[in-house]
Amino acid sequence: MTTRVILDTDPGIDDSLAILLATASPEVELAGVTVTSGNCPMADGVRNARNVLALAGRPDVPVCGGVALPLIRPLYTAPETHGETGIGFAYLPESTAPVSTEHGVDLIIREILEHPGEVTLVAVAPLTNVAIALRKEPRIINAVRQVIIMGGALRTDGNTTSVAEFNFFVDPHAAHIVLESGMPITLLPWDVTKDIILTQANVDQLIRTPSPVTRFIADATRFYIEFHMAAFGYAGCSINDPAALALAFMPDLARTEPMHVAVEYTSELTAGKSVISYIGPATREPDAHDLTGYDTAAWPPHWRRAFRPAPNVRTVVEFDSQRFIALFVERMERLARQ
Ligand code: BDR
Ligand code: CA
Repeated sequence: MTTRVILDTDPGIDDSLAILLATASPEVELAGVTVTSGNCPMADGVRNARNVLALAGRPDVPVCGGVALPLIRPLYTAPETHGETGIGFAYLPESTAPVSTEHGVDLIIREILEHPGEVTLVAVAPLTNVAIALRKEPRIINAVRQVIIMGGALRTDGNTTSVAEFNFFVDPHAAHIVLESGMPITLLPWDVTKDIILTQANVDQLIRTPSPVTRFIADATRFYIEFHMAAFGYAGCSINDPAALALAFMPDLARTEPMHVAVEYTSELTAGKSVISYIGPATREPDAHDLTGYDTAAWPPHWRRAFRPAPNVRTVVEFDSQRFIALFVERMERLARQ
């Protein structure tokens, strides 16, 4: 049984690796890749997504640009992390696939409504497209199967400002809309993904299987690894976005806890900061659209005030990085041999 996935991206080096992992995973039926601006401007991201899909032998997967600017704030991109084109030192031939004419927001809405209860939305970019989809068609809230979001720095320093993770920093207003939407959300924060590291040794192993796929991974990650070396002092790179994609078909990689996560969007100084209210273990089994497992109605009134908002996400607090990196390397080798 496959899982129908929409991948909302800003490709981006680790976004590109997430696209490759989706194409290399038999558990995933990739319904479309939608793009917003973030790591690079949206036009570059669309080109990268199309070219990566062609590289993986899946030029048929639709790539749809969505909303090109954050809701309120000016666009902030990350050329120092992902390179001027968004894919580091890699160069890819232009895909000759027909250009999709559907808007990314409309693809998200259409897919979710056409397949109620089936679509997993994996959002690994600033949440602009998802927020606009929610505002345009709120029925997706109850029709989506689950939403997996890579974003937020909850109990750790941010990776963009000292308090904010990149995806939440770039569009904090969108992150607020999405987290407060009532959709069944699994949040994979930077707290966890910063330790999901593809090492230089992993890349060296990959290029022992020569192919355009492994060449691309080596050239793209060389830039990303140089950045990580300068910023964090190690020869490897956090592959945040593929880890979020993997949760769509291998949820047992993670242990989650329900919590309320709010996003600061009014302060210039702390824009995109995640503020958590953790309330301890759940009291009953969650169901599909009440993932929290809490009887909030039974809480004392003072708990229900601002200090104890009901959980709005399940947050990943532990992740089996070793198993995931082994899976990633093995699937990239397989893709390279195809
Ligand atoms: C997130 O921001 C981007 O740089 C990555 O693609 C990832 O989605 C990590 O904070
Ligand atoms: Ca991303």
